[in-house]
Amino acid sequence: MSERSIERSMAIYARARHLIPGVTQLISRRPTRAALGVSPIYAERAKGCRLWDVDGNEYVDWFSGVGPIILGYADDVVDQAVKEQIDRGTVFSIVQESAVELAEELVRLIPSAEMVRYAKGGGEACAVAVRIARGYTGRDRVLFCGYHGWHDWYLAANLGTERLNDHLFNGIEPIGVPRALEGTSMPFQYGDLNMLEDLLRQHASETACIIMEPMRTELPPAGYLEGVRELATRYGVVLIFDEVSSGFRIALGGVQEFTGVTPDMSVFAKAISNGYPMAAVVGRRDIMETAGRMFISSAYWDDSVGITAALVTLRELERRQAVAHFERLGAAFKAQINQAAQQVGLAAECVGVAAHPGIRFLVDRPADAKKVATLFIQENAKRGIILSPGFFFNTAHDDEALALTVKAVTETFAVIADGLRRDCLDSLLECQLQEELFRRMVS
Ligand SMILES: Cc1ncc(COP(=O)(O)O)c(C=O)c1O
Repeated sequence: MSERSIERSMAIYARARHLIPGVTQLISRRPTRAALGVSPIYAERAKGCRLWDVDGNEYVDWFSGVGPIILGYADDVVDQAVKEQIDRGTVFSIVQESAVELAEELVRLIPSAEMVRYAKGGGEACAVAVRIARGYTGRDRVLFCGYHGWHDWYLAANLGTERLNDHLFNGIEPIGVPRALEGTSMPFQYGDLNMLEDLLRQHASETACIIMEPMRTELPPAGYLEGVRELATRYGVVLIFDEVSSGFRIALGGVQEFTGVTPDMSVFAKAISNGYPMAAVVGRRDIMETAGRMFISSAYWDDSVGITAALVTLRELERRQAVAHFERLGAAFKAQINQAAQQVGLAAECVGVAAHPGIRFLVDRPADAKKVATLFIQENAKRGIILSPGFFFNTAHDDEALALTVKAVTETFAVIADGLRRDCLDSLLECQLQEELFRRMVS
């Protein structure tokens, strides 16, 4: 293991703290969410599954830009198409045919898609989907499960009582969200059909939609999504699948294609365009047509760069048989990481579907959980690996990257196992604990 300095990253970080509240725009990219002082903060460039930081260190990166990168960084095919588009122009006073071609492609691939609207980010697209559902039904209330971005409709759930804890982070204060929205968004527990039915029984006549992440890393319990579908139909509520993170990973048409459960509307973003801002809201014709009568409008939503990037990304995902790649690579990843844990006697496991798994540590004392998660990031970073318990595969991840990672993670696991055995995790930490940031941020 070579000594890695992140001196320049830390110097830039010091400047950023005075200028950019929160330092990064995406909370998952905050240095305090990693191993501050050890893991890299500022990137110089990236290619395929490798990333180089501003201090010249090279990493195998399993975080894939926190999800958008699905064909690998700086993909030659997507980037060539984007460069050609830039030469022709990016945003115009009128629109380009490619917007229609992308809509045709999405309708072909995604079971719930009959009509399509565009946006730039996942949270923004969720807000568009909820607005359309409210417009279509003439009702206000939203029942939700999972994470759906930063907009008022969603954070309103924490007005009065903390309802987002199981869906996002603990303790988010809905600062700046109008109090008048209290009671408009209510969560339901994933997997609990009775709870959802109770909510619908009480509130169906005021409820516009159910919006949910159809899955994260584990497959839905047998019959669950079918049950949600049936309830939404029975109570006359629009069902929206938020496939911003799940889309294109276990099937090109999303979890809805994989499970055969078709929602009324769906939201895709992140991996849809391999690193260029782009999002799509798709759905049933009669529902989507409502958007034509609503004020849902933004200058950059017609941007041809994102549209071109999405068109080429979808084509390349199919051509490169991305899903099969994720399944093969993921199966090997899971088996080898689990073997590494066993080898060093650490209670850790890689769980979930092969195409999109996650790593779990089974610790006896709750106080150790954060220390172990931070140590995992720290020790991996020291060995040239960007890997936290949650991660995303891309098609540039290959056997060589996996072999390097398994070697590093085996050493990382050994450090953690030793720390737990000797009860000395604190002395192994070379950085502050990964921050449970909300309590602090708002206190
Ligand atoms: C399921 C889900 N919905 C919405 C979002 C928000 O997307 P964005 O960060 O592009 O606004 C995310 C981002 O992680 C997500 O995973």
